[in-house]
Amino acid sequence: MSLDAYRLLRPLIFRLSPETAHNLTFKGGRIAKGIPGAMALLEGLCQAGISSRAMDACGLHFPSPIGLGAGLDKGAEVLPLWKALGFGSVEIGTVTPKPQPGNPLPRLFRLPEESLILNRMGFNSEGAEVVAQRLKRRPKGLIVGGNIGKNKVTPEEKALDDYREAYRLIAPEVDYIALNISSPNTPGLRRLQAPEALAPLLGGMMQIRKEMGLESQPILVKLAPDLDGEELDAIVDVIAASGLSGIIATNTTLDRGIVSDINRDKVLSWGDGGLSGKGLKLKAREVQRRILQRIPPHLKLVACGGIGSAEDAKAAMQDGAAWVQVYSALIFEGPFLVRRMLKGM
Ligand SMILES: Cc1cc2nc3c(=O)[nH]c(=O)nc-3n(C[C@H](O)[C@H](O)[C@H](O)COP(=O)(O)O)c2cc1C
Repeated sequence: MSLDAYRLLRPLIFRLSPETAHNLTFKGGRIAKGIPGAMALLEGLCQAGISSRAMDACGLHFPSPIGLGAGLDKGAEVLPLWKALGFGSVEIGTVTPKPQPGNPLPRLFRLPEESLILNRMGFNSEGAEVVAQRLKRRPKGLIVGGNIGKNKVTPEEKALDDYREAYRLIAPEVDYIALNISSPNTPGLRRLQAPEALAPLLGGMMQIRKEMGLESQPILVKLAPDLDGEELDAIVDVIAASGLSGIIATNTTLDRGIVSDINRDKVLSWGDGGLSGKGLKLKAREVQRRILQRIPPHLKLVACGGIGSAEDAKAAMQDGAAWVQVYSALIFEGPFLVRRMLKGM
């Protein structure tokens, strides 16, 4: 299927509700990964003629610097599919320690004319036990990160217990861990970014990593784009002092100012949630650059937010990002996105 074929199909796919389209895609992906030779065929289509872009970061070897951001394959259900499309890494999750349904529907909205998504999924998760079991059958040759969070019912002061419980199950099955403290859809979660909450949380995670003998496995933390410069500096200093390996910037934004004037009322009518996609790029880049100015060399930055082309990826990596992640662009651009990005890099 060429780029144009996806362009032709897209209006049909976008006639379905976003969550129906998502569920159908996953159903197709689960069937396809079980058909002998299907993934190899797809890999051939998506990666033919692409020279290797393998790279190393955080002590890990990445087949390519383009990663799939957290939240699309929350349960590690179709990892071979992402590998076939050319992703070098996939961040599964956010996984919560116990299963939870997330917010009521509708909770996912698209604005194709601006390549924007609004979501308030609220960590729908099968729970760490189920996901950890599935990860035991993960494909080789793909870096898998485990993005973990807390259950909605867990009070903020008990958040560390949840992160530790999810860590205990997920960490042995993945290559790196990402602590999600920046989703806007779990009440109070972003308050864990405040230095007074963050220092003990990160300290507790370093301790469990040691207890489990996983000292060489990187832990990264994922931040919101809605932090002002001084807040961000203070947070970065806490992370730098903690022994963590890196920062993923950014998660979705609460800022409705990234929507163009003509569409703002429509987006406001959708209600709460975080925005992602093209309009987030500038805001995320500002945050990424501020972090890069401040972090010591042993900390890596993973750039995420509005990235959707080879130029975006190159710009982020020239700024100093170790690798990049995409999410929304894949929904709007389709399965050949990674191929196009790798070709242009
Ligand atoms: C529908 C949806 C669900 C998401 N779920 C998660 C999640 O569970 N955990 C997380 O850390 N980020 C989640 N994200 C945020 C993305 O990983 C990414 O940080 C954000 O969308 C910005 O990147 P983008 O502009 O390329 O989409 C989600 C994003 C979307 C659109």
